[in-house]
Amino acid sequence: MDVLTRQKWDRAAGSYDLMNGYGQELRWAPSKRRLFDRMRGRIIFASIGTGQDIQFFPPDRDITGIDISAGMLERARPRAAGYPGRLELRQIDVHELDYPDGWFDQAFTACTFCSVPRPVDGLRMLRRVLRPGGELFMFEHTGSRYFPFNLMLNLMTPLSRRFGPEMNRDTVANVARAGFEVAAVEPVYLDVVKMIRALAPAASGSR
Ligand SMILES: C[S@@+](CC[C@H](N)C(=O)[O-])C[C@H]1O[C@@H](n2cnc3c(N)ncnc32)[C@H](O)[C@@H]1O
Repeated sequence: MDVLTRQKWDRAAGSYDLMNGYGQELRWAPSKRRLFDRMRGRIIFASIGTGQDIQFFPPDRDITGIDISAGMLERARPRAAGYPGRLELRQIDVHELDYPDGWFDQAFTACTFCSVPRPVDGLRMLRRVLRPGGELFMFEHTGSRYFPFNLMLNLMTPLSRRFGPEMNRDTVANVARAGFEVAAVEPVYLDVVKMIRALAPAASGSR
């Protein structure tokens, strides 16, 4: 396990809900509900963090929520306990998933691949554990193509990555680099916050 990343997020866990809590979640709630309404079959949610998104999950789903940080997961546990369905939490690095190839039908992420240190490798691992043709649904913030947002996000990243996420990643390109077929990209706020739907190739195999 990547100890430095785990420790970083353990440190962030105490203030995470305060910093990313009520207002933001309300703002993104309609989009997230619409995204999570697509949940079907055996699902991996990477990374579940403090479980802020659990309130938006449809009931009666079969979900495994993973995260590298014990501190984040500790805060997610009471939320998971109230979920009316199967929701298992596991501390594991997304780069080191130990599930068999093709185990999951779908993977979901929310503000995950701004934070995972090796995004293309992490996405490749998600692709491996998805069945051929399995779906990846993401709610992510990324860099921007437009001035002055690109400048701002580039300037913020050296500082933000010390305590939390990077602000300027090209996550759509990373998804394609990891061997997914990008099926849809829907902007939620400017070209910065977006929802992505991608498919694992029908014939599996690792690149
Ligand atoms: C910005 S937070 C988002 C948490 C949650 N999805 C949310 O939207 O509130 C990023 C999360 O990614 C997790 N994370 C970072 N690197 C990881 C890795 N290599 N494997 C699994 N989780 C990781 C952190 O512990 C943290 O909970």
